[in-house]
Amino acid sequence: MSDATHVHHRQEPLALLSRLAYDFAPFLCNPAHGCLNYHRGWSLVRHYEADGALPLGLTFFRRELGRLAEELGKSRLRLLISGAADTGVAAMLVQALMPLGIEPEFVIVDRCNTTLMQQRMYLTLIRVSAEFIQGDAVLVDTAPVDAVISHSFIPYVPPDRRLALLENWARLLQPQGRILLSERMVARSGMAPAWPDPTERQRRHADLAHRLECKGVSEVESRAFLEAADKLWNLTGQRHRMGLADFHQAVAVAGMKVLSLDASHDTTVVSPMGPKAETAKRPRHEIVLCRR
Ligand SMILES: C[S@@+](CC[C@H](N)C(=O)[O-])C[C@H]1O[C@@H](n2cnc3c(N)ncnc32)[C@H](O)[C@@H]1O
Repeated sequence: MSDATHVHHRQEPLALLSRLAYDFAPFLCNPAHGCLNYHRGWSLVRHYEADGALPLGLTFFRRELGRLAEELGKSRLRLLISGAADTGVAAMLVQALMPLGIEPEFVIVDRCNTTLMQQRMYLTLIRVSAEFIQGDAVLVDTAPVDAVISHSFIPYVPPDRRLALLENWARLLQPQGRILLSERMVARSGMAPAWPDPTERQRRHADLAHRLECKGVSEVESRAFLEAADKLWNLTGQRHRMGLADFHQAVAVAGMKVLSLDASHDTTVVSPMGPKAETAKRPRHEIVLCRR
């Protein structure tokens, strides 16, 4: 697909964006965050293994943002994206809103400059207005937003900071606004296990090698990309999952209420990271919160 076609359809030029992250993450990721192997491999695996699959939840975000725009009588929504590994979440939201004729105005907060560099390039190319904030989602400040979007972000914030995260989201929300979450949830909080089935990793490595070859990627680059993918997959098991009971408690203490919480029956997994078979066992929850 030519670059012009990408821009026209507002799709991500993911070959370019993944290459940028691979090349520049060593200069942009902060060693104190330990996110180099995460940001260096994420877009590459999404592009070459998952054919650029968007993060899940497009139907949910389309429905809820459409409803919100109608309620507010707006055709332009100011949306805070709280943490995003690359351009995937923004691209998914753009695709969700396009047929509704709703124009997003993003505020994107992430502590890492690698993803912000990708997002600045992508959103500038497709002419979507966005503010980029390098910083901590727990402390970020900006003018009120119509909705906060969080996609698989909560497990990345340590348990003892999650209440403060929810409180900050509530503070940044305009009074009629919504918090929209797409999160894989478990009954009880706890650490994610290491890869339960090592053969799944071996299979994915071999499959990715095959895909790189089919796409005409040179042998030298393939070797480098496979190493980056292996390092991304090695990161699994470091996240502390949030259980539903703790989530409900934090929502109440943060002065919010749950408008809806649906566990998706779809067992599809598109995340570049983590064991797919194991991830599929944790249903993705689509959650709408508002201020009490
Ligand atoms: C939100 S998750 C990514 C998963 C998401 N589903 C996606 O597809 O993009 C991880 C991101 O959160 C960022 N992050 C982790 N802790 C953060 C914090 N306290 N404040 C802001 N960003 C943070 C990381 O830099 C990373 O880019």
